[in-house]
Amino acid sequence: MSPLTDSFGRRHTTLRLGLTERCNLRCVYCMPAEGVPLTPTRQMLSTDEIERLARVLAEVGVDKIRLTGGEPLVRKDAVEVAERLGRLGLRSLALTTNGLLLEDRLPDLRAAGLTDLTLSLDTLRADRFEAVTRRPGLDRVLSALDAALRLGYRIDGPRSLKVNVVALRGVNEDEAVDFADWAAREPIEVRFIEVMPFDGNGWDRSELVPYAETRARIEDVHGPLDALDDGPHSTARTFSRPGWRGRVGFVASMTVPFCAGCNRLRVTADGALKVCLFGAREVSLRDAMRGGATDADLLELVRRSLAGKARAHAGMDVLAATENRPMITIGG
Ligand code: GTP
Ligand code: 5AD
Ligand code: SF4
Repeated sequence: MSPLTDSFGRRHTTLRLGLTERCNLRCVYCMPAEGVPLTPTRQMLSTDEIERLARVLAEVGVDKIRLTGGEPLVRKDAVEVAERLGRLGLRSLALTTNGLLLEDRLPDLRAAGLTDLTLSLDTLRADRFEAVTRRPGLDRVLSALDAALRLGYRIDGPRSLKVNVVALRGVNEDEAVDFADWAAREPIEVRFIEVMPFDGNGWDRSELVPYAETRARIEDVHGPLDALDDGPHSTARTFSRPGWRGRVGFVASMTVPFCAGCNRLRVTADGALKVCLFGAREVSLRDAMRGGATDADLLELVRRSLAGKARAHAGMDVLAATENRPMITIGG
């Protein structure tokens, strides 16, 4: 069967799959303080439905699935989902998590075939952690990260380990060097992410810390960073220094968009296919499945949606005024 190609020739081989809209944190850039109205549970994809979609997409070339949320590990059977997807023979089974519920589950996730682990951690200071996430928990995240290293998640092995840092003006911009020091000492990839606008997150251009600025802060202390060889589909441009055990990366979604190499499909926890992170264009694969769609029907819906995928996102100012969903219901 032919691969999932859009009208610009981009082959889609990665699926970002939302497991839940719930989260045990309340990060300021992700959710309004009052939270967001949750979709009723019966409208969430069941584990069988998730497995079916993953299988159907794997049959046409999807070889990487990243589990997202909300916080994916808040879903009670997250480990079972990983086990079922782990049997599909994917090249990569990845998880982006805030780490609070990770440590206990990590051995089972590893046994299920989890190859790539990303922890979201925006600050190394406990008081700031609470200011950003509106909850305590820094110690648990750091402990989970240590456990991941012990279990063989690291940049230079068969499994990978990354830390996502959303760079926020006036909040954590001054920690860039601390994070880089950490990447120098440990075999991890620390990625600095430019904050993006989503419904309800009150995005303002003034809180964006451009990638070039974060890079300059690090280079002022560590010296020039050497560019590494990133694949054509990478969200991050990565760099290292002689003698470092790890590396840093920059996800410059706003100032240096990487849409030309986009190979990502998204299915939200309530079963909506999004061919781009931005915009309100969606098609409900859940409704199609519950209405009796065959596997071929599902693929036809995906192909039709992909045919309308834009070449690139419209730029931050347009995006800030464009209807979408709250980030927590997309999964990033
Ligand atoms: P790998 O490429 O597997 O390392 O993962 P990733 O960078 O796609 O995943 P992760 O969940 O760590 O996301 C890092 C940041 O990149 C988050 O802020 C995501 O929202 C953002 N991101 C991921 N995919 C896209 C995309 O297609 N477009 C844009 N603009 N941002 C994206
Ligand atoms: N802009 C950029 N990144 C974001 N994330 C969550 N909200 C935003 C935003 N508004 C990050 C999370 C997580 C990843 C999936 O996306 O911190 O690491
Ligand atoms: Fe939860 Fe992630 Fe959103 Fe933070 S960024 S509130 S951890 S979903």
